[in-house]
This record gives sequence, structure tokens and C-alpha cells, in this order.
Amino acid sequence: MPREKTFDQIKVEAQPIGLFETPVAYCTLKNGEALMSELESAIRQKKAADQGLSRSNIGGWHSDTDMLNWGGDAARKLAETAVNVAKRMSHFHEKDKNQLDWVVRMWANVTPKGGLNHLHSHPGNLWAAVLYLDMGNDEGQSEDEVGGRFYLEDPRFPMAAMKDTSFRLIGQNNAPQQYETELRLQRGNLVVFPAWTRHGVRVYTGERERISIAMNIDAQQRA
Ligand SMILES: [Fe+2]
Repeated sequence: MPREKTFDQIKVEAQPIGLFETPVAYCTLKNGEALMSELESAIRQKKAADQGLSRSNIGGWHSDTDMLNWGGDAARKLAETAVNVAKRMSHFHEKDKNQLDWVVRMWANVTPKGGLNHLHSHPGNLWAAVLYLDMGNDEGQSEDEVGGRFYLEDPRFPMAAMKDTSFRLIGQNNAPQQYETELRLQRGNLVVFPAWTRHGVRVYTGERERISIAMNIDAQQRA
């Protein structure tokens, strides 16, 4: 009688590779105190004189997008810093990124208790950035206690969930990948991310006003 074939010896060696990563720069300004206090006073002055605009912000003050014109040297330095970070994550096929014109639009957000930003993206740009100047937490109170977490949405959403909303892909770190990632941020944190990445801010529950600066960053061919 021939022995029944079994395949007990078969094993699989799996090598997971993470494809199509999305670069997000999570930065901390070093020696940035003087710069940040100058930015903050420019924003306070502007807010006192200006009604602001209504964008993705709910319940907060959003300046015009011309902060590079009214924010002085500090605003220009911040723009240069953010562009340098964006450049590090940028490559142009057969073009020299340093020969392009890097253009920044900048605005300030002042958010009172109850404010939030709906999920949105920044069309027409390469990169978006945000610098937090004041998280709004009181002394001795952690940033976690005042809500208002900044979050990014997985740009592949809702692909994985289309068959089953409970389904998650396991990432290279062996953990299920969630559709939204909240970042823990504090004063001096600068986040630079692709402008098409949808993002938002959860409801802010602190007593003091929160202050941040947002930027749109683009690179254009020199005329
Ligand atoms: Fe935004």
C-alpha cells in the first residue's frame, strides 16, 4: 500500500514589506522660544484688528492667509524652516528642487474652548504644515487633558474597510493599522505632511485659547 502523501514539512517564511509609505515630518523647533513669542504677539495684534476668515475651523479665529506679510521676520523664518523640511521629503524627476520657487501661504488659528477643525485637505499644494505655539493647557495640566488632538487619516481609507468595516490590515509593526492617527503635540512641534492627506482637529476643551500657525507649501517652476 503506498503511503498517503502528507505535506507536514511545508513551512512558510513570510517577509512583510511596507509599500507606498506616506512621509510625515514630526519636528520640534530647537532654540525657538524667541521666534515663537514674536509669532504669538504678531498673531495677538492681528486678531485684535481683524475679524478673520471661516474655513475648516469651527468656533475659532482664522486669520487671512497673508501672515507672511504681517508676521515680520519671525514668519519669514518659520516659512523658510518649513520649506527646508518639505524639501527634504521632496524629489522632482529631472528637476532640481533648489531651482524651483518654493511658495508659502501662512495663516494663524486661535481656538477657544469647543473649537475644532473638520477633516479636510489642502488642494493645489504639495505640502501642508502646522506649528503649535500654545496648546492651551494650563501650567501643571497636560496637553492630553484639553483635547483638541490633531489627527491624520490613512489616505487609503476606506479601501480596507469596503468589504468589512471591522477589518484592519496588520502593519510591519505587527499591529492593526487604524484609519486615523492622532499625534501628541506640544508647543514648538511642527508637522509637515503631504497636502492631500486629510486631517483635522478634535474638539478642544481647554479654558485658554489655543494658538497655531498653518502653512501651504508649493514649488513652482521659475518664470
Ligand atoms: Fe489643515
